[in-house]
Amino acid sequence: MRALLITLAFATLATGCIGAESGEPPVVGIRNMYNQPRYDTQERQPFFADQRSMRPGVEGTVSREMERSLTWATGRAADEGYVLEVPPRLIAAHGGNGAFLERGRDRYDIFCAPCHSYSGDGKGMVSRRAAQLGAPGMVAPTFHDDRLRHVPDGQIFATITNGVRNMPSYAHNLPVDDRWAIVQYVRALQLSQAPASVAGNTEQPQ
Ligand code: HEC
Repeated sequence: MRALLITLAFATLATGCIGAESGEPPVVGIRNMYNQPRYDTQERQPFFADQRSMRPGVEGTVSREMERSLTWATGRAADEGYVLEVPPRLIAAHGGNGAFLERGRDRYDIFCAPCHSYSGDGKGMVSRRAAQLGAPGMVAPTFHDDRLRHVPDGQIFATITNGVRNMPSYAHNLPVDDRWAIVQYVRALQLSQAPASVAGNTEQPQ
């Protein structure tokens, strides 16, 4: 009988709150995770010797992107010039040119084609709409002109990474390797549309 009563009492306790709303704050034993100090931008903070609440990175910190190679992460060579071609080791690490291009096409079609179009002629939907609305500055250029055919791979990488004039940066959507894969695919698009003399291919298609 006693056991039954105890069981009943527990059952009532356990189910008593289900579905019931309470306006009371939750009962929390240790509150130090709830009440934390916060600082505004540039605010003084007495804890550190230099009193800066905005902490500079620990000396020698390397961002995840730059983990492997500064050149890969920036598109710039040691002499500050643009890297001339997509790093071959990167292509190899992604299963060779075929797989790398596939990845590049996949990402390009998502992130670049809306403006630059699937073929890279700059007539994507956004560009067409911009032209309609009389905003020529928002019309993406074609990749199939002599200047863009001849810019180094690293410059296209840097364009995706930093943006250029009216084009925003895509660094937050695209990890480093994907950006290089896109560069490789843009090169393939350019070759596909280039006159034979530019492509260095004098053979006529059969
Ligand atoms: C929202 C539309 C838009 C998207 C998306 C976009 N671009 Fe652009 N892009 C532009 C515009 C507009 C320009 C011309 C910028 C200017 O000159 O003001 C441009 C310029 C460029 C240029 C020429 C830079 C130069 O040296 O003149 C390259 C290369 C380029 N984009 C590559 C890309 C790649 C690769 C992607 C995908 C990751 C991409 N863009 C996504 C709008 C876009």
